[in-house]
Amino acid sequence: MSGLFITFEGVEGCGKSTQLKGLQTFLEAEGHAVVTTREPGGTPIAENIREILLDPANTAMGSTTELLLYEAARAQHIHEKIAPALAEGKIVLCDRFADSTTAYQGAGRGFGPEVLHDLHHMATGGVWPDLTLLIDLDITIGLERARHRGRQDRLEREAVEFHQRVRDGFLALAATEPERIAIIDGDASIEAIAAAVQERVQQCLAERNAP
Ligand code: TMP
Repeated sequence: MSGLFITFEGVEGCGKSTQLKGLQTFLEAEGHAVVTTREPGGTPIAENIREILLDPANTAMGSTTELLLYEAARAQHIHEKIAPALAEGKIVLCDRFADSTTAYQGAGRGFGPEVLHDLHHMATGGVWPDLTLLIDLDITIGLERARHRGRQDRLEREAVEFHQRVRDGFLALAATEPERIAIIDGDASIEAIAAAVQERVQQCLAERNAP
């Protein structure tokens, strides 16, 4: 039996990590076997790549290096963790995935859809989310929250205009794939966001179990 692959996406400080934990608790209480993970990261090798990507000292990193490192981390993550968990029938909850590359390296840095499509395919081998929860939030609110969390990583230090392109990129992507990508209002209360997330996930589970 094949599992269910759910990803959380959004701009900095949108609250997706909190919501992922809440959804894990909810699904486990319902008796589901859940694996939680994140990108970049999720395995020892991919976490090492994450360190390189997010280290604020790496100001010399070029856009192509950045793009390929995100995809390299993803390839290892799929190979070592996501694909095996899905093959065991588990629900995988992943904090960011390939849509982040489309938003950050595509809309943010300017890489075109063809190159991203090919790299995504190479990195994922076609393993793709069944459902993506895009927690949408005004970037000024999100960046302010991220600032309060402490030391800012290399991506968080990008200009406001970059983060605005990222948000616009996520919304444009969601508009092209409304079946897979659900836009959730990230400015609502934590409880209201959690309720919206649960409703969308239950709908997805019901559709899968339908005859
Ligand atoms: P996080 O802070 O939400 O864990 O995400 C790490 C940072 O990496 C965040 O600034 C978004 C960025 N990122 C990309 O630029 N491209 C990607 O493909 C992924 C997965 C994350």
